[in-house]
Formats: sequence, C-alpha cells, structure tokens
Amino acid sequence: MTASNKITITKPDDWHLHVRDNEYLAGVLPHTADRFQRAIMMPNLAEPVTTVDMAESYRDRIIDALPAIYKLTFDPLMTLYLTNRTKVSEIKKARDAGFVHAVKWYPAGATTNSSKGVSDIVACYDVLEAMAEEGMPLLVHGEVTDPHVDVFDRERIFIEQFLEGIIKNFPDLKVVFEHITTKYAVELVEKSSANVGATITAHHMLLNRNAMFQGGIKPHNYCLPILKREEHREALVKAATSGNKKFFLGTDSAPHTRNAKENACGCAGIYTAHGGIELYAEIFDKADALAKLEGFASHHGPDFYGLPRNREKITLTRKKVAIPESFPFGNEEVVPFRAGGELLWSID
Ligand code: NCD
Ligand code: ZN
Repeated sequence: MTASNKITITKPDDWHLHVRDNEYLAGVLPHTADRFQRAIMMPNLAEPVTTVDMAESYRDRIIDALPAIYKLTFDPLMTLYLTNRTKVSEIKKARDAGFVHAVKWYPAGATTNSSKGVSDIVACYDVLEAMAEEGMPLLVHGEVTDPHVDVFDRERIFIEQFLEGIIKNFPDLKVVFEHITTKYAVELVEKSSANVGATITAHHMLLNRNAMFQGGIKPHNYCLPILKREEHREALVKAATSGNKKFFLGTDSAPHTRNAKENACGCAGIYTAHGGIELYAEIFDKADALAKLEGFASHHGPDFYGLPRNREKITLTRKKVAIPESFPFGNEEVVPFRAGGELLWSID
C-alpha cells in the first residue's frame, strides 16, 4: 500500500473515557470534544455514579463545563457504576432515561475509585439478566483483585475465573471487555459471539512494559491494566487493524494531577485525550492499515452499541505537532502521554 499523507474519516467516538468532575472537567473536555462526537463517560468518580439521577447531574456538569462551541456538537454518553446493591428497577429506569448507555463492572479494588465496586458478581445476576433484556451493555474492567495473583496475569486469570462464565451464562448480554491488554483477551473476544466486543487503548498498542522502567521508574506510563509484554502489544495491534467489528476505539484517557502521579504511591492512569485520534492514526499507519482506521474509530463502536454512526467527517494529516510538558488541570496540571515529544499526525 502506498503511504498516504492525509485521511478523511467519519468523526470518531471514544468508547472509554475518564474526565473527572467539577473544576477538573474544563481542562480536559475540549481535547476530547475537538476530536470525538461522543464519549462513554466512566462512572468511577470519588463518589461513584450509581444511579440514573446521579448520571443525569454528572451529565449536566459535563455539559456546563464544555465551551459553548461544543455544547451542540459533543454528546457525553453516560454509564452507571455497578455495585452489589444495584437494583433491577435502576436498569429499566436507565433504559427509559435514554442518556445512560451502559453499566460498568469494576471488581472491588481493581483500579482507581473501585473500592465500592462489585465484590460478588453472582449477587448481580438479576441485574445482568435485566441488562440482557434491555439490551444494556456491561462494560468490564477485566482484572482479578487477588493480591496473590501476579499483576501481569490479572487479566488472563479474570478471563478464566469470571468472564468466560458470564459470557456463557448470559449469551444475550452485550459485553465490552474494556481496555484489553493481552493476546488471551483478543482470543476470547474473537471466539465469542457478536455480543462480545472490546475496546483497545492507544497506549497499550504503542508501549510494552519496558516503558515503565526505561532508565528509571516512569510513573506517567503506569496504568491499569498494566502494560504487558511485546507479544501482547503486537496481538492488540493485529486485532485493532484487522477490520474485525468486535474491536473499537476506547482511549481510557485517565487524567490525574502531576502530584498524584509523581508520588510514593502513584495513581494508575495515562492521559491521552490530547492525541485521542492522532495516536491511533500513527499506529494504523505504522501497521500499513490506515484504511482500517475508520471502521475501528468510527463504525464498530456505534454499531455494537446500536447507535447511529456520525455523519460529520474529520481529516488527519501526517504532520508533526509538539506535545506540551503539561496541560492545566483544575488548579494543578496533568502530564500528557509523550510529554515534550510529538504527535506524528494532526487533525485539520
Ligand atoms: C483509570 C482511572 O484513573 O480512572 N485508570 C487507569 O489506569 N486506566 C481507571 C481504569 O480504567 O482502570
Ligand atoms: Zn478506564
């Protein structure tokens, strides 16, 4: 394939995003709204978004924080945070509300703000049944939390201990295996029914686990699920660029303040919203698969969620753009992915 320096695609959506709350929203939202029409808003706030009413007020806070030019173009897609006590009636209410598009399963203790997550998924079976009936997708943070399990094996063990069973017990439930990081996850998604999809981040396709330890510990490359071996990174690139409709874009852009990252107990999360689509263009270009970018970034996600594809277009150009050392974030700053470096593609 001849190298192309320009590509126009349907405006993409981000199917996995963290924007935080209150004074933190304004710094990060424009990065996403500049590139994406819609984004799945993760519900793991300090006080998790567990009800439709909470999702509605979080949505209002997001829209309030958007600059006026985006208020009509950008659509935040809300989610609920599953707990052991989530009620079946809340799922029906969510479907009727229209702005709630999924329910997120965080195994308790798996990641940032997950302490109120699910400690017993069997206690949620009635809710999963209701979700299957309503066509409401279950978004899964697929890692076991047992501290005895090696941190690099947590996704693989989760597949064996939980995910295969859920998929088998609830064949009609739509399941998105979020931010997959291993060839085992790719295999599971490939062999499952059309009801099972997965998001893939740019950072898991650009970095392997060495990036956390290059010349010293690199806290800004620490995220969960943790970066994996090169063979897994390669399996993710292959899946994303294959054209398979089960795989779609989810940045998992997860801003934390510089202080929270450069800390004796640093938070997990990599901020990529400033290159939300450009980083994927770089990956697809390098894999000689630019022609597959539009499906992955703009078609497979809405098709899976049962939402219309966007009508607007965006154009990406092979043109280097400098990445700042930091962006304002509340009264503090967030250090972006590849801080001080370059994006190889830019949006017009
Ligand atoms: C996310 C966050 O900071 O909210 N962190 C991360 O490393 N990805 C949570 C998550 O998606 O696991
Ligand atoms: Zn996330």
